Amino acid sequence: MNFLSQKRILLGVSGGIAAYKSAELVRQLRAAGAAVRVVMTPAATGFVAARTFQALSGERVWSDWSDDRSGMDHIELARWADRILIAPASADTLARLAHGRADDLLAAVCLASTVPLCVAPAMNQAMWGNAATRHNIALLRERNVQVWGPAAGAQACGESGPGRMLEPDALVRAVADSFSSERLAGVRVVVTAGPTREAIDPVRFISNRSSGKMGYAVAQAAREAGAQVALVSGPVELDAPDGVTRTMVESAQEMLEAVLAEVSTGCDLFIGAAAVADYRPASASARKIKKRADCTSLDLQPAPDILATVAALENRPFCVGFAAETEQLQRHAQKKRLGKGVEMIAANRVGKGLGFETDQNELLLVWEGGSQLLAMDAKTRLARRLIECVADLYRHRTKHQDFAQDHAENSA
Ligand code: CTP
Repeated sequence: MNFLSQKRILLGVSGGIAAYKSAELVRQLRAAGAAVRVVMTPAATGFVAARTFQALSGERVWSDWSDDRSGMDHIELARWADRILIAPASADTLARLAHGRADDLLAAVCLASTVPLCVAPAMNQAMWGNAATRHNIALLRERNVQVWGPAAGAQACGESGPGRMLEPDALVRAVADSFSSERLAGVRVVVTAGPTREAIDPVRFISNRSSGKMGYAVAQAAREAGAQVALVSGPVELDAPDGVTRTMVESAQEMLEAVLAEVSTGCDLFIGAAAVADYRPASASARKIKKRADCTSLDLQPAPDILATVAALENRPFCVGFAAETEQLQRHAQKKRLGKGVEMIAANRVGKGLGFETDQNELLLVWEGGSQLLAMDAKTRLARRLIECVADLYRHRTKHQDFAQDHAENSA
């Protein structure tokens, strides 16, 4: 199962006999769909050759400063990763992290990173029990570093006790769990994604450049936040995210019907990320339209507005729409929010390599009485931050509504 697809894991390998297990860990992370880059400490290269990790990860391997070819690789790597996992994490590496050192490449990447850091300690049991290590671990935990393991048992040094690195399959499960949250637990979410195709005749259609990446990332992020997610997608070249039910459609009309069918079976939150056609041919020709010598024209009529239709339903879900703007983001987004009658609009700037067909994006979120800018980032990460904001607003609104309802019932 590709339960780590679209996830970028930076694996730090520090010096210890358990480093041989990290090769299997890379294999399992990749089998789960993750992209993996490996940064080794110089000491680790004495246990396993960098080439082993290069072959297994399919990427070059970084170890000492001479591998930082651009001089900025340590920053690039920090930005690239969705998670940093250090396995094995030696006593020395834990001490360097605890003290914020940046004198080896791995420590520098960790210091430059803002994503969750996870460590799988591996060392002799006495080293693990030493007051210095206990203190370092306490410091790291205080800073929200996730400490996985160690397990207890027979050790390579012949002693027995806590200090064994967790097995690769347990670490892969822990990585997967670290992406889940309970923010939208029990919430039923419908997401639209991708373009629509409006038929002109049996071989031609009107469409747009939407790749569907943002909508798919939103569906995946909502799933990771614990929601039950139904994705209604226009034609795209993407696999359905794990655990998400998907309906493929072509036209705006088909998308509307599929969305209304999903909403009628129960939907708390609707997120319209699809680039739905605004206009469609007034009538699609049953036969291929032949070329003519002179000019011709196409009669267009408005396509159904899916977001506005869902927002106008009785018992409607909490609605979030997207807006693609080339200028005056804030003003246009607020206008669109009011015009469509939705709780939130996520506006992005399009044109000149922005928005469509790219892996990066920037979003301005606007709601009644507030706005927040989500700075340029990979669409997968941006989607997770969007879902965090949507979940907060959704929870706030529903709590407020429950309170208002209780109040009305009590005073009746
Ligand atoms: N939308 C929809 N059905 C349509 C058109 C748009 O559901 N027929 C949804 C989109 O999924 C998105 C939002 O409405 O959530 C975008 O609204 P739209 O008015 O199309 O905005 P722009 O594409 O930004 O268009 P314009 O600026 O031309 O009004």
